Amino acid sequence: MHIQQKEDKTTEGLVAVINKLLIIIVVLVITIFIIPFVLFYKSQPQKTEGQAAKITGSAETVKTDATVYWSAPDVNAIADAKQKEQVEYGRELIAHTAKYLGPNGSVLKMSNGLNCQNCHLQAGTAVWGNNYGSVASTYPKFRARSGQVEDVYKRVNDCFERSLNGRALNKNSKEMQAIVSYINFVGSNVEKGKKAAGSGFKDLAYLDRAASPENGRLLFTTKCQSCHQANGEGVFNADKTEYTYPALWGKQSYNDGAGLFRLSNFAKYIKNNMPQGATYQNPQLSDEEAWDIAAFVNTQPRPHLNTSGDWPDKSKKSVDNPVGPYTDNFTELQHKYGPFKPIEEEKKKKEELAKQKQTIANK
Ligand code: HEC
Ligand code: HEC
Repeated sequence: MHIQQKEDKTTEGLVAVINKLLIIIVVLVITIFIIPFVLFYKSQPQKTEGQAAKITGSAETVKTDATVYWSAPDVNAIADAKQKEQVEYGRELIAHTAKYLGPNGSVLKMSNGLNCQNCHLQAGTAVWGNNYGSVASTYPKFRARSGQVEDVYKRVNDCFERSLNGRALNKNSKEMQAIVSYINFVGSNVEKGKKAAGSGFKDLAYLDRAASPENGRLLFTTKCQSCHQANGEGVFNADKTEYTYPALWGKQSYNDGAGLFRLSNFAKYIKNNMPQGATYQNPQLSDEEAWDIAAFVNTQPRPHLNTSGDWPDKSKKSVDNPVGPYTDNFTELQHKYGPFKPIEEEKKKKEELAKQKQTIANK
């Protein structure tokens, strides 16, 4: 009886050990099969418009991003040596603006230290990176902000005065001539009046709620702070000629009259381009994250610009223009953080009405 029990216990013990071993083996087998599987899928680029076209196309109709989206012509193809030199200087000024025109600029000290390229990525040639593809083909054009027909010079100076919180550059200066010559060259392969596919910003859906600066603050610390710093002031390079990580707020950043001060522009820019390394093909922020971070950054202190002369027709203001007065009854707060859909719907209705009145008046 006694011995029998002992034997039972030993078998029980053995069974338990075998069971444990089996579990370990199963777990090992699962890991061995799953790890390569996960790695394989992670290494696959995410599906995008370009890629989707590639997958569905037959051999002849295969579309790559290069055929879906505009790309800049090659500067080396310019035959005229003088023109090539000018265009190359223009590209250099876009890429390293601060070296020449920043606080320690070698030509003029007239801007805040940002490079045009910080916001117009790859010298204004990156797909959905706020590129210059459509500038040559669409300017001069009427812009509701100034209420004027603007040429490329005026538009460039807008960014100098607002995004670079600086002064306007003389139209006849060597630098302005080079910048405009470069921008015109970049868009020289786009038909007049047409827009280059992938130029400017990619559209981003509005949220149904107001964007949250509080939520954005948390996201900023985990996703942006390592480069742009806790105080948002970025990091200059060793010889202080230009930023390694540009300022997002503070004295050396864009002012409150700049394009990025509009929530939608900021959210669209970071959605497809930030944190550094993100692209439209491989975005790293959800839509909500992009809007909330935009709300946080654009709530931080920055230089002020008197923009009272902007928008001579106030009804044309963009829905996310954060500075009143407005022609609707939505608050300044809602114009800054949203929700924007109700504002947009009302604006569209009013425009529709105005059109109808116009056609009746013309009859
Ligand atoms: C802080 C970010 C920032 C910097 C720096 C910046 N820009 Fe811009 N720029 C913008 C934004 C945002 C827009 C689009 C604004 C909009 O559509 O409301 C824009 C638009 C433009 C446009 C018009 C593009 C189009 O398709 O209509 C030109 C040209 C331009 N910038 C030139 C420059 C030049 C030249 C510099 C450097 C001197 C510069 N920008 C620096 C943010 C910036
Ligand atoms: C790994 C470093 C890194 C991280 C992380 C990063 N950025 Fe940037 N950011 C850069 C660099 C570098 C540039 C300038 C790009 C260029 O010149 O090509 C830049 C440019 C910008 C600009 C335009 C220039 C300016 O100063 O206004 C904005 C806006 C911006 N980043 C926002 C963000 C936000 C928001 C996050 C977090 C979601 C973020 N970045 C995360 C490195 C980083």
